[in-house]
Amino acid sequence: RLIITDLDGTLFGNEEAVEELKERLHASGGKVGLGIATGRRLDSALAALKEWDVPAPDLMITSVGSEIHYGKKLIYDKEYAQHIGYRWRREALVEAMRGFEGFSPQPDIDQRDFKISYFYDPEKAPPRRELVRRLRAMGLEAQVIYSHGQFTDLLPLRASKGQAVRYLGLKWGLGLERILVAGDSGNDEDMLKTAMFGVVVGNYSRELEKLRGQPNIYFAEKPYAFGILEGAEQFDFFGTPHLLQAAAE
Ligand code: GLC
Ligand code: MG
Repeated sequence: RLIITDLDGTLFGNEEAVEELKERLHASGGKVGLGIATGRRLDSALAALKEWDVPAPDLMITSVGSEIHYGKKLIYDKEYAQHIGYRWRREALVEAMRGFEGFSPQPDIDQRDFKISYFYDPEKAPPRRELVRRLRAMGLEAQVIYSHGQFTDLLPLRASKGQAVRYLGLKWGLGLERILVAGDSGNDEDMLKTAMFGVVVGNYSRELEKLRGQPNIYFAEKPYAFGILEGAEQFDFFGTPHLLQAAAE
């Protein structure tokens, strides 16, 4: 089993909660592993994990699902990069975005091969769907993700946190019933919908409100890693495997 969690606002936020989650994972005796799925770059994610005293995860999905690395050695998944490169016209997208109001590019370091990122002004920028429509009218296809009311990411059609999770499941033969995901904001939405066990932590941002009522998604009362633990409890994720079996049926 694997817990795949977002970092900022989900795993991070309360030290005591992080400690509790670490203990819980440790107590599982290796039965439950840890993966992360973050908007951050790999180096920045690693630095933050260190700050929060979290040991190297089993896998890291970074830059909003556009890169995957495995294990302590941080082995890069080249196959995934090839897979998501499909119909990705980076330069054309950057050019097109220059023509729209309300977007200013994030620093160069946050622009990746498979991720183009902006700060957006909700007053001036078109709503997400409208932006998708306009890009499409120009013959451009990308996934457009708005989060925290301030970030816009453009990603290849096949890349997102959720699609990375699905890819991992297929690649490693890990059924989705063995994966619990946790998040707090817009860039976690599709991953929460993908997994069989999704947890939205108590301190979530508005964009996720629309997921309420989905049977596979639990809205925790508690914030940050306390919320992850609450959700894991709710789904009995650390519990007996036959419950996982039942969930799979
Ligand atoms: C992280 C990334 C940023 C991205 C945001 C939302 O903050 O650093 O580039 O836009 O997540 O996905
Ligand atoms: Mg977050």
